[in-house]
Amino acid sequence: MILVTGGAGFIGANFVLDWLALNGEPVVNLDKLTYAGNLESLASLQGDARHIFVQGDIGDSALVAGLLATHRPRAVVHFAAESHVDRSIHGAEDFIQTNIVGTFRLLEAVRGHWGALPEPERTGFRFLHVSTDEVYGSLAPDAPAFTETHGFEPNSPYSASKAASDHLVRAWHHTHGLPVVTTNCSNNYGPYHFPEKLIPLMIVNALAGKPLPVYGDGMQVRDWLYVKDHCSAIRRVLQDGRLGETYNVGGWNEQPNIEIVRIICGLLDELRPRADGASYAQQITYVKDRPGHDRRYAIDARKLERELGWKPAETFATGIRKTVQWYLDHPEWVENVQSGNYRQWVQAQYGTPGAA
Ligand code: NAD
Ligand code: DAU
Repeated sequence: MILVTGGAGFIGANFVLDWLALNGEPVVNLDKLTYAGNLESLASLQGDARHIFVQGDIGDSALVAGLLATHRPRAVVHFAAESHVDRSIHGAEDFIQTNIVGTFRLLEAVRGHWGALPEPERTGFRFLHVSTDEVYGSLAPDAPAFTETHGFEPNSPYSASKAASDHLVRAWHHTHGLPVVTTNCSNNYGPYHFPEKLIPLMIVNALAGKPLPVYGDGMQVRDWLYVKDHCSAIRRVLQDGRLGETYNVGGWNEQPNIEIVRIICGLLDELRPRADGASYAQQITYVKDRPGHDRRYAIDARKLERELGWKPAETFATGIRKTVQWYLDHPEWVENVQSGNYRQWVQAQYGTPGAA
């Protein structure tokens, strides 16, 4: 079996769902269930013995050591993090605690476990660290996309905390020999995305008749990847990634934010036209820019393609259409996330929170 951290979040939940759909191997899912953790996203796994959910903190060394000893996973896939840049600007404490201290404690617990494993489990063991392109900083308009050798120049408290965690993972390999691989991925979008992030926020605000808040001039560029393509890249790296290496993951899809918002409005105009016949684009509102806002990210994912044969399956056109349709088809998930009822849902569904 494998141990996944943060498997009730956006990417982690998609990863666990896809993993179990494609593969019979059980998953222990350790998640603290912060505001971003939502067991409702994993509702389809209820009663599935291959999914063992444990509510807890990656920084709880005794808990993690106990899980490793009990379940003896062959790999750890580490998603758990505080992930929202804007929240990190308002307060960085949780980012430092989880992304840095939490990753450190997780690495130590895993090192203790791995060091005591007999062969061949010891050699086969993997720790996959899920990270972000934001560690590389911001690109000039005509600069080449980030490769794995680009220097780290993180600009937000979030990206600085992720960069620190990447360095810890690297050091635990270099110094202690821990068998690690790291992925640095660009912006994801898709089902179960918490509507504090650009794409889901625009969809749910548009449908609610609310303003669509575009920061600054809306010309900041992000490189968007459908979440299930990120999950397939992680599976590929877990299987065949070279130890101690980092792999960039991206969708070759750079777009300015305003263009993303216009595409979403166009899809909604087609799939769920406004009652008054006007375009959702009328709701676009330019607002104050994010402090320290990175201007451009772009990922060069050729190493992953060359070494491991990975390519994204979705184009942005296919992925964003699926995503908008998913939000239209899941009004209850959206409603529960917005009202906070997903927390009560967990209570009602599982009795004690987390005992799925
Ligand atoms: P998310 O915020 O949706 O989910 C994070 C999950 O981690 C939540 O379920 C939360 O409850 C859990 N968690 C938080 N602190 C924890 C702790 N101390 N112990 C245990 N669980 C804890 O995040 P996401 O967007 O799914 O991102 C997952 C990972 O992928 C993060 O490491 C992030 O840095 C990275 N990443 C995200 C993107 C993206 O576009 N969203 C892109 C590249 C990399
Ligand atoms: O690049 C990978 C990163 O992508 C991940 O590491 C982060 O965890 C993830 O949150 C994401 O970070 P961003 O800051 O790029 O994503 P966000 O969806 O918050 O914003 C995307 C862009 O849209 C960014 O330029 C800010 C802008 N934006 C965002 C919001 C929420 C707006 O213009 N208006 C908004 O309301």
